Amino acid sequence: MSLKERILCIGAGYVGGPTMAVIADKCPDCRVELVDVNEERIRQWNSDDLPIYEPGLDEIVKRNRGKNLFFSTEIARGIGESDIIFVSVNTPTKSFGQGAGQAADLQYWEKTARQILRHSRNDKIVVEKSTLPVRTAEAMDRILSSGGDGVHFDVISNPEFLAEGTAIRDLLEPDRVLLGCMDTERGHAACDRLSAIYENWVDRSRILRTNVWSAELSKLVANAFLAQRISSINSVSALCERTKADVTEVARAIGLDSRIGPRFLNAGIGFGGSCFKKDILNLVYICRQQGLDEVADYWQQVVRINVYQHDRFVANMIAEMFNTVAGKKIAVLGFAFKANTGDARESPAITVCRRLLAENALVRVADPKALGQVGAQLGGLGGVALFEDPYEAAEGAHAIALLTDWACYRELNFQRILDTMEKPAFLFDGRNLLDHKALYEIGFNVYPIGKTPLRHF
Ligand code: NAD
Ligand code: UGA
Repeated sequence: MSLKERILCIGAGYVGGPTMAVIADKCPDCRVELVDVNEERIRQWNSDDLPIYEPGLDEIVKRNRGKNLFFSTEIARGIGESDIIFVSVNTPTKSFGQGAGQAADLQYWEKTARQILRHSRNDKIVVEKSTLPVRTAEAMDRILSSGGDGVHFDVISNPEFLAEGTAIRDLLEPDRVLLGCMDTERGHAACDRLSAIYENWVDRSRILRTNVWSAELSKLVANAFLAQRISSINSVSALCERTKADVTEVARAIGLDSRIGPRFLNAGIGFGGSCFKKDILNLVYICRQQGLDEVADYWQQVVRINVYQHDRFVANMIAEMFNTVAGKKIAVLGFAFKANTGDARESPAITVCRRLLAENALVRVADPKALGQVGAQLGGLGGVALFEDPYEAAEGAHAIALLTDWACYRELNFQRILDTMEKPAFLFDGRNLLDHKALYEIGFNVYPIGKTPLRHF
């Protein structure tokens, strides 16, 4: 068998890992290697216990690892031996200097570009997989063109649209694969090669080609639009609570309009995750840089409503529990930012727990996959206890705050839970996941999002 492409991915995280595993699975004649500076992460990728939880990922990794899928920390060697390099390093919000709190921190990405330049001896295609500010490819191209030793690089923007918890399905059946290339003969030829990889399992009609800048910007805009829908419905949830309208009914009524559509209209505690906030803030920053203050303000509001939704939730908990939660045990069901992931980056649960702890509450956290993240997010704060078992977390608690939409929480025996709780027992459903009427009927005081609370007093 002749090797079709030698593919390297720099950055073995939530995007790099699943994406490369699927490419290796679908392209057995390609060699796929993931490299990372994080030795522990690479050790885990090579072990039985993968560093991230994602439904379906284990099987795909274990089926291909050691055959055409490899994990290593040897970045220089990996670069030297590859023809196509995906760059999938983190691009967090900058926490220092100019643009702090808004701009993307491009230091990891820049370092990668320089490493590629330093260790390349043959022409390569460099694929931007990380989410980057529009026109980053220009900077990438400039760095890569500065070598002067005859090695040529073609930069393609191929942003990733997978969502955590459904990453494998999203990769296997993407709505679209976006390829942004330079409008040159070489650029189009490079795009053809990358497209050929995806065509192993993605229909050509779903592979969309644009110019590089459109591809880069489309990624930021896609996340901004998705987050905007959530903030829109969350803003309506506040109005529903004042007017006795029901946000689920409103969402259904508007979602049946085919122009609006039903998805991403679940009101809740606010969006979390490592990307929505970061990408919108980055969009806001870019707009301000371009002198587009009105546009920047418009998108900034999406984040403001999200913060408002977190704030409202905690304020409501405190107000309903007689204006004090000091010394009260509160069971937090769910710490991950959404169901089916172990990722708690920017999880709304972090904000809620911090606020409750600041009120001297005793927070008892349960989560099927993200308990390991609690220390990193709430480390050093007293008053936190962790529980594998949600029943134990709720024992003796004054209230339950359901913060992640794990399906398993719907199956809990709430009568059993209620029997062990302090009375009156409060249940704050931050995801509108549970059967509120049934919970009220067995004795809970129930506080959904965007609906009239069900109180016994
Ligand atoms: P991550 O933090 O899980 O992974 C990034 C990895 O890159 C880390 O393991 C880090 O050690 C490694 N790294 C950093 N600098 C390096 C270097 N110089 N050399 C080698 N390795 C290096 O991040 P992620 O969630 O996978 O996100 C990566 C990018 O993809 C971000 O730009 C993000 O916005 C974007 N994205 C993320 C998602 C998602 O669901 N998480 C979805 C779409 C796009
Ligand atoms: C999101 C996008 O959906 C992906 O397309 C994108 O690739 C990714 O960001 C990224 O760039 O990182 P992700 O954050 O993994 O994916 O998960 P989502 O399903 O989008 O959920 C984000 C947050 O919004 C979660 O906290 C979720 O609970 C919340 N959400 C989602 C709602 O509150 N209501 C909804 O109706 C939908």
